[in-house]
Amino acid sequence: MSTKLFLDSGDPKETRAALELLGHIDGQTTNPSLIAKNPEAAGKKFSEAEIYAFYKGVVSEISGLLKPEASVSIEVYADAQTTAEAMLKQAREFNAWIPNAHIKLPTTAEGLKAAEVLVGEGVRVNMTLVFSQNQAAAVYAATQGAKKGDVFLSPFIGRLDDRGENGLDLIKNIMEMYKAGDGHVEVLSASVRNLQHFVKCLEYGSDIITAPLKAFKEWVDAGRPESLALPENQNLKPIAYENVALSKPYAEYDIRHELTDKGLAKFAQDWNNLIA
Ligand code: E4P
Repeated sequence: MSTKLFLDSGDPKETRAALELLGHIDGQTTNPSLIAKNPEAAGKKFSEAEIYAFYKGVVSEISGLLKPEASVSIEVYADAQTTAEAMLKQAREFNAWIPNAHIKLPTTAEGLKAAEVLVGEGVRVNMTLVFSQNQAAAVYAATQGAKKGDVFLSPFIGRLDDRGENGLDLIKNIMEMYKAGDGHVEVLSASVRNLQHFVKCLEYGSDIITAPLKAFKEWVDAGRPESLALPENQNLKPIAYENVALSKPYAEYDIRHELTDKGLAKFAQDWNNLIA
């Protein structure tokens, strides 16, 4: 199996459980909502310095549990007003926390500006909250020149399903569109909620899948299938493939998406709720 498997969790106890279950994982993704759900943070209030120290402690512990070549994603705080400069400041700081970080940036105009600068500095990035092919093309264009492994793209399946669209189609479409590229961006399928999401991403050849422990358990219980004849969810509206060229300057793509804005606001809210 060529797809790498990451755990989607802000809790090192789950890292241990995933290692026990699978024997090996290739990395882990975190985000502000997952950090807020960590049992040692949930319901508590921190000063700003304390919450960043907590986040650093969590990712350091996770990093220590994994092989040196594994990746651990750390997400910047960003709301609708956060500038590329502010993201860069956080990214450089977080990147020094552990030796194997990918810095998660939102796929917004400011996030793309920050990504372009960071890949130029050799900082690895994971572009998150991706809901459209145009966003995926813009990430490809903004990170030209980066080497394979340095840029992840995180399209969110479950959140598209939540509003009645077939999120798995987005993975299929981006994989198809990226065939025309040089392979420098790896598709990290995210917002994976169930066995069907998990196995379809394997079938589509997603470079990486990040999934919560519960989805890994379902997959292991099913005998670790790499394909399955599961019935399609007929209630989901298909997402059509669009012919999007990868060759435009990144600022020329229309990257607006309502779910990116909503996702940004939710991450910011969950993070701010932790701060006294
Ligand atoms: C991981 O990188 C994403 O932040 C995560 O998969 C989002 O999942 P959710 O849509 O279930 O919150």
